[in-house]
Amino acid sequence: MDADSTLSNLLNEDRRFAPSDAFAAAANVGADVYDVSDRLAFWDQQARRLQWRQDWSEVLDWSKAPFASWFVGGRLNVTESCLDRHVAAGNGNRAALIFEGEPGDSSTITYAELLAEVSRAAHAITELGVKTGDRVAIYMPLIPEAVVAMLACARVGAVHSVVFGGFSAEALRSRIEDAGAVMVITADGGYRRGSAFPLKHAVDEAVEDSPTVRNVVVVRRTGQDVAWSERDVWWHDVVDRQAPTHVCEAFDSEHPLFILYTSGTTGKPKGIKHTCGGYLTQAAYTHWAVFDLKPETDVYWCTADIGWVTGHSYVVYGPLANGATQVIYEGTPDTPHQGRWWEIVAKHKVSILYTAPTAIRTFMKWGDHIPAEHDLSSLRVLGSVGEPINPEAWMWYREHIGGDRCPVVDTWWQTETGAIMISPLPGVTHAKPGSAMSPLPGIGATVVDDHGEPVGRGHGGYLVLTEPWPSMLRGIWGDDQRYVDTYWSRWPGRYFAGDGAKYDEDGAIWLLGRVDDVMNVSGHRISTTEVESALVAHPAVAEAAVVGANDDVTGQAIVAFVILRQGHQEDENIVERLRAHVAHEIGAIARPKRVLIVTELPKTRSGKIMRRLLRDVAENRGLGDVTTLADPAVMRLISEGLSAGTAEDE
Ligand code: PRX
Repeated sequence: MDADSTLSNLLNEDRRFAPSDAFAAAANVGADVYDVSDRLAFWDQQARRLQWRQDWSEVLDWSKAPFASWFVGGRLNVTESCLDRHVAAGNGNRAALIFEGEPGDSSTITYAELLAEVSRAAHAITELGVKTGDRVAIYMPLIPEAVVAMLACARVGAVHSVVFGGFSAEALRSRIEDAGAVMVITADGGYRRGSAFPLKHAVDEAVEDSPTVRNVVVVRRTGQDVAWSERDVWWHDVVDRQAPTHVCEAFDSEHPLFILYTSGTTGKPKGIKHTCGGYLTQAAYTHWAVFDLKPETDVYWCTADIGWVTGHSYVVYGPLANGATQVIYEGTPDTPHQGRWWEIVAKHKVSILYTAPTAIRTFMKWGDHIPAEHDLSSLRVLGSVGEPINPEAWMWYREHIGGDRCPVVDTWWQTETGAIMISPLPGVTHAKPGSAMSPLPGIGATVVDDHGEPVGRGHGGYLVLTEPWPSMLRGIWGDDQRYVDTYWSRWPGRYFAGDGAKYDEDGAIWLLGRVDDVMNVSGHRISTTEVESALVAHPAVAEAAVVGANDDVTGQAIVAFVILRQGHQEDENIVERLRAHVAHEIGAIARPKRVLIVTELPKTRSGKIMRRLLRDVAENRGLGDVTTLADPAVMRLISEGLSAGTAEDE
């Protein structure tokens, strides 16, 4: 990392926003929660908010570090905590999911109905041969059946691997293959930006030669035509006729619950593995504490898709474990108009909203008048996740969405951490705009320098987690060594998160972005290497280097520098074709914003590409230090080539 430039980004933010006295007095969690002296006793207590069939003998076994076991010997079925017990407690008629489809269709599913549907789906996948421990890929739009599919897997002990519906057939194929999935659950398509997009055809392509996938179960959402083969089964044919009750088995606390693929610093995505007891404990606790959830009265809305970890922990598992009533919305924020989200907030009287900075910045750009046209007075807590939130966006969110009265919680965590780790508590913290503030109770985090020494107040370095936590990843699917190497080898005994961070003079933590070759585009992780591999797989490309350049809306934007093979220079459409090629290989979220055709790339004498210099070019900055370049003239060539206007695409 270019430590100096990132870490010298010192912020001078001294505004603070305390909760109102009334909010603080009614909050689920008060300041005494930070008095935790015995971390394990704290988590032991939190685990008791779930329903267990068998108690644990030990809270944490860390003897095989960094491979952890939490709530050792405990047994549970996570869906019993998320569904059955709420119905048993007499809350079966409470709304669990309030679904808003993009075309305007809307439905409410109670806890009793959700339990019945999950039971039917559990019977259906069992009938199709899915067994405990089998992997099931889920590739769906954000519709209630997606939540049902995840919970049905969990209920029978199958391991779900949700693949974001915006990923390409190729990305889906490689994830199915890596996990050895036996089933794919999908839909004919979904609605986005005012029209139906197809999904099933990508599954057909992805499973064509799959030696493991036996069935593809298809939800009818859009009614569009789909190709059909012997392994395909309609969801309604196989689910609707099943019994609405299902006696479920309890599984070991460490039984795998799901795999979720995320980008690392190589071209191959990592299958992050999470297990049952510890994961659900921390997802449930943090959802209750950080959002101050009052399940009887709140209407909660997290705008994440289930394809991302936020959708796992804060759409499916955390809220349902807490018996929350929540909104899920299928589509985009500007369909059919730019006030769609605020219309939904007003319609359902949403009280807790959890979203991403990129969305907030987009709304800022669209204008203050749009949210102002809607009644947002039901809101009382606002959350942010996915990337650093700049103080301007934080302030805008607080003023224009939160009416200056709602605490804003900026929550730092990762696919790997499974649940929120660093965040204000809304009834306690005097939050600073743009800061994630401090580790939650029971969590150990600090900022260290290159030697692993904690830095003091006012200094920056690398964010590390100092203690194991219940919802920590249990490894990388099929690659234990990569787990050890990636996260635990840089400084012994400490988890390296890959983020730069800084303590301010008051000891508040400010996240500064990734320090590795992982980009963060609209809150989504994409590795530079993954995009480079896609580019060099194209016959016209000889070499490629990809950087994330700062972007006002998406946080970072993908900029690719490409050297073409002989004979391809003249082709005028090459930039557009390469962008489309990356979208086809990985998915539209990885489509480079710009592709710059160059004749050379800046390399050190050892052949390593100097991304820092490419970032300077991509962000239109003057060139930094080029003395370590093998050929210092290269940057001049690149800059001259670009200013001659050869190949920029917006
Ligand atoms: O760089 C950090 C950023 O997102 C990364 C994790 O990405 P992912 O696994 O996709 O999970 C995103 C949703 C939890 C982190 O390494 N990040 C996430 N939340 C924040 C953040 N950066 C700054 N502030 C945050 N609140």
